[in-house]
Amino acid sequence: MIQTPKQQNLKIDVAKAAIAYIPEGQVIGVGTGSTINFFIDELYAVKNKICGAVASSEITAIKLKEIGIPVIALNDINYLDIYIDGADEIDSTGAMIKGGGAALTREKIIAAMAKSFICIVDSSKVVDCLGNFPLPIEVIPMASGQIIRQIAEWGGHANLRINYKNNNSVLITDNGNVILDVTGISYDDAKYWESKFNSIVGVVTVGIFAARAADIALIANYSGITVQNYSKVFS
Ligand code: 5RP
Repeated sequence: MIQTPKQQNLKIDVAKAAIAYIPEGQVIGVGTGSTINFFIDELYAVKNKICGAVASSEITAIKLKEIGIPVIALNDINYLDIYIDGADEIDSTGAMIKGGGAALTREKIIAAMAKSFICIVDSSKVVDCLGNFPLPIEVIPMASGQIIRQIAEWGGHANLRINYKNNNSVLITDNGNVILDVTGISYDDAKYWESKFNSIVGVVTVGIFAARAADIALIANYSGITVQNYSKVFS
């Protein structure tokens, strides 16, 4: 995805702001993507504050190890205070589209365990209704054809994601699956659509994060950082 230098600066701003949310002496969950890469850069200066991190992708695990942060397997912990990750879109309830970086399955697993999901985005990611960004869905490779046909019946168009950095081959996820990117549907009822896509046999994970939405979003705009607390909105 092409980003402007200004958007990049906003990502750096929000990555810096997220450092204030890191709990002392704990393992934290760390997501995937360009915003998170800036967050990992910022984490370096405070790395002794945490015991380690659970990574949502192989690439994030590599980056964390490079700066000397122990990478912990999710199965080796039974409690996670916070998960920090970016998003491709976020609406006014904290529901998100995620998976632009193909890490949606591990992201959803870690998010499900975390007590608090802190989403860090620049203001271009904030939308009234999810669905402008092509919805990533991780699927079992042998099921992709039938899933594409099912989505077409619902009015959507699904494209198999290509890895342009690897000879235009089909992109394979960290879990050995493929990604379908779906256009043509607006997710006005995000929980309904999350559950509907999940009901298709062969779908591993849909990139709608509505049943487990963000608790807090830090949103960088040109006048500073806005903090949205969605748990408070619904409590
Ligand atoms: C990766 C994700 C990312 O959080 C999402 O794609 C946002 O990425 P970026 O910070 O590069 O804009 O869901 O699977």
